[in-house]
Amino acid sequence: MPIPSHFNSENVPEHIAIIMDGNGRWAKQNGKARVFGHKSGVKSVRSVSEGAAEAGVKFLTLYAFSTENWNRPKAEVMALMQLLVTTIAGETKTLNKNNIRLAAIGDLASLPGNCQSELEKAIKNTSTNTGMTMVLALSYSSRWEIVNAVKSLLIDVKSGILDATNIDEAIFNNYLCTKNIPDPELIIRTSGEHRVSNFLLWQAAYSEFYFTDILWPDFRKENLWDAIIDFQNRERRFGKTSEQIK
Ligand code: IPE
Ligand code: IPE
Ligand code: MG
Repeated sequence: MPIPSHFNSENVPEHIAIIMDGNGRWAKQNGKARVFGHKSGVKSVRSVSEGAAEAGVKFLTLYAFSTENWNRPKAEVMALMQLLVTTIAGETKTLNKNNIRLAAIGDLASLPGNCQSELEKAIKNTSTNTGMTMVLALSYSSRWEIVNAVKSLLIDVKSGILDATNIDEAIFNNYLCTKNIPDPELIIRTSGEHRVSNFLLWQAAYSEFYFTDILWPDFRKENLWDAIIDFQNRERRFGKTSEQIK
């Protein structure tokens, strides 16, 4: 399906971030084990990344595994890590075909070794692509990221690289995993949950939120375009009055 005609290609978010939620419930509805939902979610990732690139999005961040997700049953965590390995390895070709560069944020060192190496390989093999950047948030949580940033910042202050009195928002931002990525203008969460679950707390300061009841394995590029159209009909005021920005 082509991009709808009422889609304004002049006003597309540069960065869209998605909390891909609802895989478990989708599997349950279909009488299957939770892992089946995660596997089916890969099709959505394919469709949505293609749709985002077609729409002209520059950065697509996908929340794939949170710090807190380590607390799930061991079998599910292991299945998710295995799925990650096979998906990353299997999708590199498609990423290259679509000129998409892969990046990752999170506590990557906490991932299993084979996961880290597949990830590194795919990041390297797609590094010269110039289209969209797909950022996987893996073993990511915003509080972890912020505490980590504070630690590195203090080390730099202690060693004299940084003068504490000079610290401002831009400098702080440079210590986050997302230092080379603009803040997301739009954050989407699927599955009818209305919370941020430790995702991009700093970066979401002025993000628009879009919530949909669609479960992640049912979400497709058309649904992403609907979310972008909804975004295009909002007035982003950044603290100002409506009259000031007209
Ligand atoms: C999202 O789907 C995927 C991950 C968090 C890894 P869930 O597994 O959270 O699905 P629900 O929320 O239980 O339906
Ligand atoms: C958020 O989903 C994390 C990811 C989508 C990876 P969860 O399913 O883990 O969030 P909660 O626990 O419902 O808040
Ligand atoms: Mg969930």
